[in-house]
Amino acid sequence: MADPVDTGSVCQTVKKLQGKVAVVTGGASGIGEATARKFALHGARAVVIADVQDDKGQNVAASIGPDRSTYIHCDVTDENQVKILIESTVKIYGRLDVMFSNAGIGSASKQIVMDFDLSNYDKLMAVNVRGMAACVKHAAKAMVEGGVRGSIVCTASVAASVGGPFFTDYTMSKHAVLGLMRSASLQLGAYGIRVNCVSPGPVVTPLLCSFYKVEAEDAGKLFEPRFRLKAAGKVLSAESVADAALFLASDDSEFVTAHNLAVDGGVKT
Ligand SMILES: NC(=O)c1ccc[n+]([C@@H]2O[C@H](COP(=O)([O-])OP(=O)(O)OC[C@H]3O[C@@H](n4cnc5c(N)ncnc54)[C@H](O)[C@@H]3O)[C@@H](O)[C@H]2O)c1
Repeated sequence: MADPVDTGSVCQTVKKLQGKVAVVTGGASGIGEATARKFALHGARAVVIADVQDDKGQNVAASIGPDRSTYIHCDVTDENQVKILIESTVKIYGRLDVMFSNAGIGSASKQIVMDFDLSNYDKLMAVNVRGMAACVKHAAKAMVEGGVRGSIVCTASVAASVGGPFFTDYTMSKHAVLGLMRSASLQLGAYGIRVNCVSPGPVVTPLLCSFYKVEAEDAGKLFEPRFRLKAAGKVLSAESVADAALFLASDDSEFVTAHNLAVDGGVKT
């Protein structure tokens, strides 16, 4: 997708988030980082990066520009931190237009049903489900209170729609994200707030590499044969997921809600 190219005074393509205020959780790395940069490129007035990796998050915000981006430490498992994140955003920038609720972690082990480590299950659910619920809750409240017809985008996964041979807790958590999105979209539609999911296939990020215990270059080779879509020299990237998140965040999708947008190159599951 073409991004706006600043050629001095002329902007060659439309900036899709002109003047909007966005929060990106998990914005210090991978898909969140790519999306934060994409939102800024598309004219967002402010992109608030929320994460637990403070150095990385601060670097991303600084490289976008201190006038356009702020880093706020937020562990999404702690509802109070999520509340403070949203309240601070509204206090600093006046409103919240876009919530990209994206922070997530992978399974700590194979998590086959008969071998379930339930304390690891609890930790994963605390981030991927409870954290997602807290983010949707507080973003929705801020949008309703501010009279903003905003957009909430949650990162689910291909694992939200199919079962798998392992990583059962992760699969369960992403199914739950779809349930959250569908209920929230029904409840918030009356306020003009849209709620959608983006569901990536395998993208080489720190999360994927730790999942499969491989280095980035090996992860690319591991997944390449599984994509139905064969584009010479191209693999699914965080940038492509960011394009989909941008679409769902922007007015380009003004009548799209309760949708789960797969960005997976037709990966064979
Ligand atoms: N990479 C993939 O193949 C893939 C596929 C489908 C879905 N996803 C989903 O995409 C999202 C982003 O993952 P990614 O692949 O970019 O991985 P990543 O590890 O690069 O980024 C995830 C970010 O979330 C942050 N995070 C983790 N726990 C947190 C917490 N408690 N509070 C706040 N931030 C926290 C991490 O610090 C990290 O910066 C996740 O929800 C993941 O489940 C990834």
